[in-house]
Amino acid sequence: MSKIILTGDRPTGKLHIGHYVGSLKRRVELQNSGEFDKIYIMIADAQALTDNADNPEKVRDNIIEVALDYMSAGLDPSKSTLLIQSTIPELTELTFYYANLVTTARLERNPTIKSELQMRGFGSSIPVGFYTYPISQAADITAFKATTVPTGEDQMPMVEQTQEIVQRFNFIYGETLVMPHILLPTNSACLRLPGTDGKAKMSKSLGNCIYLSDEPDDIKKKVMSMFTDPDHLKIEDPGKIEGNTVFTYLDAFCTDEHFGRYLPDYNNLDELKDHYKRGGLGDVKVKKFLNNVIQEELEPIRNRRHELEKDIPYIYDVLKKGSEAAREVAAQTLSEVKASMKINYFDDPELIKAGQAKYNN
Ligand code: TRP
Repeated sequence: MSKIILTGDRPTGKLHIGHYVGSLKRRVELQNSGEFDKIYIMIADAQALTDNADNPEKVRDNIIEVALDYMSAGLDPSKSTLLIQSTIPELTELTFYYANLVTTARLERNPTIKSELQMRGFGSSIPVGFYTYPISQAADITAFKATTVPTGEDQMPMVEQTQEIVQRFNFIYGETLVMPHILLPTNSACLRLPGTDGKAKMSKSLGNCIYLSDEPDDIKKKVMSMFTDPDHLKIEDPGKIEGNTVFTYLDAFCTDEHFGRYLPDYNNLDELKDHYKRGGLGDVKVKKFLNNVIQEELEPIRNRRHELEKDIPYIYDVLKKGSEAAREVAAQTLSEVKASMKINYFDDPELIKAGQAKYNN
């Protein structure tokens, strides 16, 4: 069986390093591994509209930002298909049929939806589109017969919902849809990178993100003002590693080689952590090291971005061609779905013959 990847992001802002370590970096590695027959990367604009209905400009403007971030991080349109969700009406049609296989009680149990509802303060005025986006995400995944969904931990409930829909669909209508599985980051610090202020989630509104497109000075400013251990007041004080954002980021980003280049007094992160815990190691020194590590990682991405920014029509052309190719695949799946559901009336000679037979005595 072919190995197929589908994953994506909502275009509601530029991508930050949480997206990068949580998913984007891995996608690029998977793309370059050559292990996958097909890779689809979706800019989920229709999903972004489910809670931005009054602000379509935001979604529209961020499509190009996300595409630039993708390609500057190393997604290569000759190896991966980049597409825009709303250009594929077949996805909406699949969503409509899958919706019959999901109960409202099941949607209410989705923990990601629960916390999103809380964050957005919808109260009891929940847009139906938002409430049902896990079903549309099942359409995204199954339309491309994805076997593998590399993404962050917060997307686990969506993939589980998709698995249930696949199971139920195949049970009722016969083996049709492909069962996907999630591929989570292997490094636990990458599962959910906190904001620079130590808050659990990076978000644009909290102003606690480092963006892939940030200039070196911005990155440095953000790193140097990062949340650490609030009880670590003097250099001599013993410090705490748990909940210390600077160390969480180091867990996500740094390798032993970085020590050789930027902090040769230590061989690896464990030694640095031990010194911090013992006392006698100041936050500024650790932050300067982290800054070097992040700068090194983001520099080539930013440079590629500046090159790509010179030809925006080319980026739109990549998205258009990708979307066209993706649509053919989704249309094929939809026709298989309709055949399994026996709602392919005009393509079913048996139906027409049987219809006639009923009236021939
Ligand atoms: N829910 C994802 C996000 O918030 C975006 C997304 C839409 C997605 N469809 C998907 C992710 C399918 C993985 C697979 O960023």
